[in-house]
Amino acid sequence: MEQKTIALVQESFEKVKPIAPTAAKIFYSKLFELDPALKPLFPSGDEAMEAQGNKLMMMLSSAVAGLSNLEMLVPVLQNLGKRHVEYKVEPSHYNTVGAALLDTLAVGLGDDFTPEVKEAWASVYGTMATVMIDASS
Ligand code: HEM
Repeated sequence: MEQKTIALVQESFEKVKPIAPTAAKIFYSKLFELDPALKPLFPSGDEAMEAQGNKLMMMLSSAVAGLSNLEMLVPVLQNLGKRHVEYKVEPSHYNTVGAALLDTLAVGLGDDFTPEVKEAWASVYGTMATVMIDASS
């Protein structure tokens, strides 16, 4: 992965961190708007949703921090991918989640969500999703 891509993702993620709870809410409403059939996969209720949002932000946070050291990140993502099979997540769902993530970043970052930043996130998410999907089959 290019150094420039990593830097763009790490810098923009720092700007989303302070609004993490809001970002998590935006993320889930976007996700269920894109595919309402995904709703039953997640625990219901506001509190469960919030905890889930925190997990996602924490994972993204460590992934973003670990991008420079892919060797260490890959086994973590492989295990995560295997656990997602148990959550009834299918390979096609990764595109939907990726789209919801980019939409969320667009709202959260505003003018800072430049085409360059968007491209960098799409590349990072795509890489993570590919490792997770490959480990799940
Ligand atoms: C790069 C992509 C993704 C990342 C980094 C990610 C991250 C996580 C993390 C950290 C957890 C907490 C549980 C655990 O560690 O096993 C989790 C749970 C979960 N994820 Fe993902 N996820 C991704 C993609 C997806 C996709 C595509 C779906 C499909 C809808 C999905 C649905 C779920 C569900 C249903 C749970 C379990 C909810 C629960 O019972 O608490 N995730 N995810």
